[in-house]
Amino acid sequence: MKVRKAVLPVAGLGTRFLPATKSIPKEMLPVVDRPIIDYAVSEAWDAGIEQIILVTGRGKGALEDYFDHAVELETTLSAKGNLSSLQSLLDRLPKDGTISYVRQQQPLGLGHAVWCARHLVGNEPFAVLLPDDLIAPPMAGAYTGIPTLRQMVQQFELLNAPVIAAMEVAPSDVSKYGIIDPIGGVPESQNGPDDLVAIRGLVEKPAPEQAPSSLAIIGRYILPPELFTLLEQGKRGAGGEIQLTDALVQLLAQQPVYGYRFHGTRFDCGTKVGFQMANLELALRHEALRVQLLPFFRAQLSKWEQLA
Ligand code: UTP
Repeated sequence: MKVRKAVLPVAGLGTRFLPATKSIPKEMLPVVDRPIIDYAVSEAWDAGIEQIILVTGRGKGALEDYFDHAVELETTLSAKGNLSSLQSLLDRLPKDGTISYVRQQQPLGLGHAVWCARHLVGNEPFAVLLPDDLIAPPMAGAYTGIPTLRQMVQQFELLNAPVIAAMEVAPSDVSKYGIIDPIGGVPESQNGPDDLVAIRGLVEKPAPEQAPSSLAIIGRYILPPELFTLLEQGKRGAGGEIQLTDALVQLLAQQPVYGYRFHGTRFDCGTKVGFQMANLELALRHEALRVQLLPFFRAQLSKWEQLA
């Protein structure tokens, strides 16, 4: 079955970016010149998704405004003859009726946020993208330019089974992630079918000595509708929240699930350091910015390295 719908949970509080997130949703913080949310939404459209469902919460109205006309601004740009800016705004607007919003009335966890989208998804496979995980496509190699979600949809179409994005992390970092227990270990190569890992189990934020591998779950999933039935039980997990990982563990008892080592560079924009790195990397990919930034970086590096 075709993956037509994508759920983007954006109802979290973004406490790691306080005080900025007191009045701006985290997803609206800009990476170069586009808000974080725009990268995930573009990735979904590029993967052939036809319907996007944003799971929002209180104080997230700016996200809805972002994907709508800004009539006053458009009129002013037109009156001033700034047609290129006007056109770039219009080009980024989604087609009418292709983005829906549903509210998660209490931040009860990621699993609960996904479950809130159940009526809009219905009985079909769907994608989940966590916009905090900003994945820039690789700059060279076999998968150049293929956005991560499109890579995953391709895998789903081959396997007809749920697919979860996975990435090797340092052993010292496993306790920050959901970690995959792979059947038959983790294959060496990262080209072609070896990118897939059959999953035996998932462990949420294990201590390094208890981690079954160093393959971490990253915020892209292709999931079956049966997951909603599992989330319906509302079981509380780590931190008293309804966890998506717990429902995935239950799903594993019913059907095979695969981890997919995607090709791309992932930035955790939910953390300050990941957010800064995303800004640096994506700014450097703009030729005009690169020319100005590199001399600045060189000067800064020599200054800061002396202090380090
Ligand atoms: P995080 O826990 O990383 O994000 O949730 P957060 O809560 O926004 O940020 P901090 O930890 O307070 O800084 C991962 C994803 O799940 C969504 C978040 O919006 C984010 O996209 N989420 C989380 C919800 O939509 N609802 C929830 O109840 C929890």
